[in-house]
Amino acid sequence: MECRILFRMTLESELPETATVVTATGDEWWRSAVIYQIYPRSFADSTGDGVGDLPGITKRLPALKQLGVDAIWLSPFFRSPQKDAGYDVSDYCDVDPLFGTLADFDALLETAHGLGLRVIADMVPNHTSDQHEWFQAALAAPEGSPERDRYMFRDGKGPNGDIMPNNWESVFGGPMWERVTNPDGTPGQWYLHIFDKSQPDLNWENPWVREQFFGILRFWLDRGVDGFRVDVAHGMIKEAGLPDYTPPAEAASMGGAAAATDLAPGITDPEIVPDPPYWGQPGVHEIWRGWHDVLAEYEGDRVLCAEAWVDPLTKMALWVRPDEMSQAFNFAYMFTEWEAEPLRDVIQESIDAFSGVGAPSTWVLSNHDVVRHASRLALTADSPQGAGIGPKSLGKPDPELGLKRARAATSLMLALPGSSYIYQGEELGLPEDMELPDAARQDPTWFRTGGEKYGRDGCRVPIPWEADKPAYGFNTSGKSWLPQPVDWDSYARDSQDGVPGSTLELYKSALALRAEHGLGTGSLVWADGFGANAVAFRNGGILVVTNLGPVAVELPVGEILLSSQPIVGGALETDVTVWIRA
Ligand code: GLC
Repeated sequence: MECRILFRMTLESELPETATVVTATGDEWWRSAVIYQIYPRSFADSTGDGVGDLPGITKRLPALKQLGVDAIWLSPFFRSPQKDAGYDVSDYCDVDPLFGTLADFDALLETAHGLGLRVIADMVPNHTSDQHEWFQAALAAPEGSPERDRYMFRDGKGPNGDIMPNNWESVFGGPMWERVTNPDGTPGQWYLHIFDKSQPDLNWENPWVREQFFGILRFWLDRGVDGFRVDVAHGMIKEAGLPDYTPPAEAASMGGAAAATDLAPGITDPEIVPDPPYWGQPGVHEIWRGWHDVLAEYEGDRVLCAEAWVDPLTKMALWVRPDEMSQAFNFAYMFTEWEAEPLRDVIQESIDAFSGVGAPSTWVLSNHDVVRHASRLALTADSPQGAGIGPKSLGKPDPELGLKRARAATSLMLALPGSSYIYQGEELGLPEDMELPDAARQDPTWFRTGGEKYGRDGCRVPIPWEADKPAYGFNTSGKSWLPQPVDWDSYARDSQDGVPGSTLELYKSALALRAEHGLGTGSLVWADGFGANAVAFRNGGILVVTNLGPVAVELPVGEILLSSQPIVGGALETDVTVWIRA
């Protein structure tokens, strides 16, 4: 009870700031941009070692220009032991040799800018790699030293200190604590790691840590990046005292969504449900104000995009107040079931929440951490984020239904005002790879849960470019760090390029029309008359209708600009989206 009252006070102390609502929107490019996520290990491999790299990306950039996106976001390419595919950074100011060199990065940036594509880097501030020199120095330094204070070291409980400091469980499974061995061989303190034990959490209460990151941001801004996607932007401050916490059984591992479903008796407002003591703590906002100011030192509109798994949307909007970040991934939208009413609701709530603080809403359906939406939208059993799908999963999707829904969902998403994110391969209609052999798996989730959760490898398989080339054109050697399915030739880019009705052509048309009609900067007006099972709205001169019900919906007469499936006889079939000139 005490905890709940405390939390209410914290929120109230934030309310006056929230009340300084700015409704005017600016004309920064990112407010309406379509941003394409590149997962460097799986995009294009120039060396043939089976792992994608920066020169590989540079060579393929014209294909993204042709697709029609505005910017690329590169998942981490910094020096890293690759224990979590690069989200375990050992040097923030260098490129991992696996991906190339700083000169390769500069060449990529120059080529991208030459093509009119902005470049967003992925900053990982919540934790470093255990191989980072800061952590190595902390291990070598005595307890209570300034080096140790850069991380979250604590004494263990019990007479010998061999009981963990609290009961928190890692997002990847197992405990959130690891005990170190002192230089003299005796057991020492414990350090906190929200993710893998190779990813120790930094102590963001320490001003030294804050200063280091200002320098890191400037290093990349000086090189010319257009901004940052910020990893785990809701996790960096932990509740004082690190109190024990047991999440509700159905809680999402990254926070948000289901964490808020466990409302205590008499509490109906999810805003006052205590967040886990390691997610969504109010102290993070001061950090973002500092980052905002660093970006403001630079010319042009640099962007900060938060990966913040917080609920409800009104709370997520706190991350994108005018003096904090620019935008945040809309995970509530991503995880909304394929049903009309919840979709209409989340779209309205998103626009209300974000415009309430003068920020654009974002829209996103896939990324490197979730089951690809061409599979997810047809799952028939629960699949919590991070669990993945594998050979033994229940409720596997029908691939045809999944692709049909994915095409309809993307056509709907790209007509919404705001900024949209596309994850590499979704423009090819790629499904999740559900048959990866156990021996090929690399996600720490798989190892830390003893194989109970498959993890995220199924959405990270290198993408197919040319149907008849080795590794489908991912490289020329045929090697691939995760094996590619044998039946991906029909998904290859060259199998779809210029082919009417292909998923690639659908994306190209949608992106071209979106740009031509200014849909990203438009506004949404709900359209009536299509029944409870449709999502229907106007954005400027375009009427968008998605039919999610079991029966066909009659369409008004008008010029069809885009449809996710062929339209026969003026009726919109189930799981189809259409854009009509209104
Ligand atoms: C973010 C990344 C994910 C990574 C985790 C730890 O959620 O998107 O891939 O494993 O942070 O850095």
